Amino acid sequence: MPPPRAELRDAAQKHEAELAERTLEEFLAADAIVIGAPMYNFAIPSQLKTWIDRIAVAGKSFKYTESGPVGLAGGKTVVIASSAGGIHAGQPSGQAHEDYLVRMLNFVGIDDIEIVRAESLAYSEEPRAEAMKGAAQRICELFATA
Ligand SMILES: Cc1cc2nc3c(=O)[nH]c(=O)nc-3n(C[C@H](O)[C@H](O)[C@H](O)COP(=O)(O)O)c2cc1C
Repeated sequence: MPPPRAELRDAAQKHEAELAERTLEEFLAADAIVIGAPMYNFAIPSQLKTWIDRIAVAGKSFKYTESGPVGLAGGKTVVIASSAGGIHAGQPSGQAHEDYLVRMLNFVGIDDIEIVRAESLAYSEEPRAEAMKGAAQRICELFATA
């Protein structure tokens, strides 16, 4: 269903529309973005999906042309901080939530994407600490080369 015309919005809808607009503006103006992406039930959290629904806007962050969709929000660096309670690398569950985020970011024109990953966070202390150490090292590498 299309959104109600602006003048027909009640107070709650107006507030929601303003929030959506601010979120999109903030996204479009950013040079660098860090996305916190824990795996929730083999996907991204619903809050993150809601953010994506706010920043993927036809005519603002992408457009359709005769030759297909074109991203309009390029020129940004995005770091995906990806975490999971279990271990998914090399498993059928793969990194589906990461793949989705990368596809979505590519769609709006963003190709400069780094993934910092910490898995096995719900395991015992040792694998958890090891995963966090690996992620911290990766963050240091990213900033060292920036
Ligand atoms: C609702 C919910 C669903 C989750 N689903 C998964 C899942 O499908 N696979 C997984 O490996 N971890 C899952 N987790 C664990 C989170 O990925 C983990 O809590 C998150 O990466 C952050 O780690 P932390 O809670 O130790 O800070 C889930 C956590 C919650 C709260």
